[in-house]
Amino acid sequence: MKITKICCIGAGYVGGPTMAVIAQKCPHIQVTVVDLNTDRIAAWNDEDVNNIPIYEPGLSAIVAEARGRNLFFSTEVEKAIDDAQIIFISVNTPTKTYGKGKGMAADLKYIELCARQIAKIAKDDKIVVEKSTLPVRTAEAIKSILDNTGNHVQFQILSNPEFLAEGTAVEDLLNPDRILIGGDPSVEGQNAVQALVDVYSNWVAPEKILTTNLWSSELSKLTANAFLAQRISSINALSELCEKTGANINEVAKAIGMDSRIGPKFLKASVGFGGSCFQKDILNLVYIAKSYGLTAVADYWEQVIIMNDHQKKRFSNNVVQTLYNTVADKKIAFLGWAFKKDTNDTRESAAIFVADDLINEQAQIAVYDPKVSHKKVLADLDYLETRSTEKNAKAISSFESPYDACKEAHAIAILTEWDEFVGYDWQKIYDNMQKPAFVFDGRNILNKVELEAIGFVYQAVGS
Ligand code: UDX
Ligand code: ADP
Repeated sequence: MKITKICCIGAGYVGGPTMAVIAQKCPHIQVTVVDLNTDRIAAWNDEDVNNIPIYEPGLSAIVAEARGRNLFFSTEVEKAIDDAQIIFISVNTPTKTYGKGKGMAADLKYIELCARQIAKIAKDDKIVVEKSTLPVRTAEAIKSILDNTGNHVQFQILSNPEFLAEGTAVEDLLNPDRILIGGDPSVEGQNAVQALVDVYSNWVAPEKILTTNLWSSELSKLTANAFLAQRISSINALSELCEKTGANINEVAKAIGMDSRIGPKFLKASVGFGGSCFQKDILNLVYIAKSYGLTAVADYWEQVIIMNDHQKKRFSNNVVQTLYNTVADKKIAFLGWAFKKDTNDTRESAAIFVADDLINEQAQIAVYDPKVSHKKVLADLDYLETRSTEKNAKAISSFESPYDACKEAHAIAILTEWDEFVGYDWQKIYDNMQKPAFVFDGRNILNKVELEAIGFVYQAVGS
């Protein structure tokens, strides 16, 4: 099957960058990204390509190249589905906030809506690709909906999980470690797998394209994220022990990372991991294990989350304790709100939880993040439902300049590892702060010796 038309439902952090790169690398394929959110689509179509809704290094240049040529953003979901041979489902699958599995299971209502919509519209055979991270065996549910409500056309379901990390999405898409495609073992299933392999073969070497059965592919995504998150929780657990024993977590990480069996990546101690995937996917894994009665398996993986919550809590507790057991009416400057550098995504960011704790202690939070708006900061806090919107608005403010955010602050907390923080004029920041001036470096990015020479009281994670 020669693919010439692709559609992607969901113009978010996954769908947007992924389709932009497919369009750039496959000029012969027309790629249409659709979303119900008209503001988001309008932003993707903004004349000024710097205003696209997702910040990723290198993304705006790719959109500028392909948009209008073979890359289109639209709200006409039905038309795009009708036209396409391959339909990617790239909608959000947040953790359920209600009913059975609340706080653990993935909420599949958006996925189901997509499946029903595809079934209603499709008048010829389609390949439907799960791009969103999904619980293992979701393809079965999608297939059942498509086959039972559709117009008796043939649907092939593939699982093609996305392994891109935010902040490096474009690079990860251009040079992926692997592309994983899971499909049905039948001849039709394997033909569909081949059709998708052919799309990626336009720029990915054949040995990097891995094909498996559907369930392995679905479970591999959850497993990859669980293993990555586990490394961070492991190093964070050791960071607390370092603080007690005089060991230094950076030295420990370097020493163990040089063991080729362990490797150096994902060993940065921090205030805790965030992002839309790790917590959600592990909770999902835990829920699936529980639903099969595998309590020991569930408990094992749940500990990764418990450790992460502990690390965030430990950070905020330390701020309060160090500031003489009270932060009431004290200004605490937050450098960074995004869950990591080079993204404007804030989902599950450690900053949100640390801010919430400190506001409970009646601190005044002043945020500076190069890519996150105040509207987003407030919405993130409101989402926790700890207190009223009015109270949040009084407790937290955002600044356009880091120097203003830090002015007259009692302490600075580094919550995101943005590169620019390292190059600031720290003497100037110090001069304008309350004394003693504290820095709590939740990302271990600043130079302790330099800061202490200026006069700061500097604390890092794990040393
Ligand atoms: C993750 C996976 O890496 C990616 O493959 C998957 O497709 C989606 O989930 P992402 O959430 O975008 O990607 O970011 P990632 O780079 O994995 O970072 C997640 C969190 O862990 C961030 O908050 C980051 O700051 C934190 N982290 C990462 C650490 O605290 N220490 C580390 O050593 C690495
Ligand atoms: P991710 O990080 O997984 O890409 P996002 O929340 O950034 O998640 O993006 C998911 C997008 O999917 C949102 O923009 C949302 O509006 C869109 N979406 C959800 N359900 C549907 C649907 N049924 N049809 C079209 N778009 C949808």
